[in-house]
Amino acid sequence: MTRIGILTGGGDCPGLNAVIRAAVKTAITCHGWEVIGIEDGFEGLILPGKTRALGLADVRGILPRGGTILGTTNRADPFHYEVEVGAEGETRAEVRDVSDRVMDRAAELGLDALVVIGGDGSLRITVELIAKGLGAVGVPKTIDNDIAGTNVSFGFDTAVNMAMEALDRLHTTASSHHRAMILEVMGRDAGWIALHAGIAGGADVILIPEIPYDIVAVAAKVRERHQRGTRFSILVVAEGARPSGGVALYRAERDLSGARRLGGIGEAVAAQLKALMDVEVRVTVLGHVQRGGSPSAYDRLLASRFGAYAVQLIAEGKLGHMVALRDDRLVALPLSEAVGHQKLVPLDGDVLATARGLGVCVGDGV
Ligand code: F6P
Repeated sequence: MTRIGILTGGGDCPGLNAVIRAAVKTAITCHGWEVIGIEDGFEGLILPGKTRALGLADVRGILPRGGTILGTTNRADPFHYEVEVGAEGETRAEVRDVSDRVMDRAAELGLDALVVIGGDGSLRITVELIAKGLGAVGVPKTIDNDIAGTNVSFGFDTAVNMAMEALDRLHTTASSHHRAMILEVMGRDAGWIALHAGIAGGADVILIPEIPYDIVAVAAKVRERHQRGTRFSILVVAEGARPSGGVALYRAERDLSGARRLGGIGEAVAAQLKALMDVEVRVTVLGHVQRGGSPSAYDRLLASRFGAYAVQLIAEGKLGHMVALRDDRLVALPLSEAVGHQKLVPLDGDVLATARGLGVCVGDGV
């Protein structure tokens, strides 16, 4: 009997459980396959005791649930995995390639194919494991919407809705106090969340990583509003935004995988704005509220389509492919084509043009 494994890698994202549910239901009811759930991303294939059979009962009721029933971590790259070495009392951490252990574990489990639901990092690892002989398909996941090859990844719509709701709420308090309100949203290298939520939430200024901003242009926009009697402004800033000639801002601490954590650009824009004009500014950092909680209807549907299609790809023997959405049709894209390059906001795209047409300052003074 065909047996498939499924894991969720990297940061969590609304809709992960919807993918798992759809994949499990389709695999069992349409094909009569067995499904093995692998816990905490690739770590579940590195460490013992982290796998379990997934039946229909295990996925009952999980469609609206945020997070992932399988757990996840961004510390589990089998090609660069931290292990404790040395004698007791004198241990030290060492980074090793434990990918052979993953291959052995997949063989032990009798997996015919693995469904990897992950972002660029997890999908890149998948490509490397495929090169070692693993059979796998990928499902693109990120609220940032920056995975190449697919028009959209699940989780993005939910994040945009959360950011839009925050902007709606900031509007009323901003207008009551005549303040400039800055909302810092996620978006490491791509400004999709800031741009889409900014337009949907009626922001006056949208700063994205793709367009280094000119604070003079930003201040001019806020000043113009104040001068014509609209004495408040709403600014959305992607966490990866940076001033022209400047750099993105990071927190002092790194995460457990050693990766640098972005943060602080909202406060920086506030300080730069106040240095140029007399305005009261407040900053809200939306943070992981964008990633937690129940997925939107759009994300539930998209994630369900992705999960079911991933199983279909395995049934058709299309291993080594990623599920992608193109012009509202599901397609199979070679994983190697999708990883390693990001989908950034196109500077000549219609969404950015829409923002400009609405009079939004996107940071460059155009
Ligand atoms: O890549 C998704 C993302 O949410 C980014 O927008 C953000 O910079 C990062 O993950 C945060 O990661 P963590 O949850 O590890 O702090």
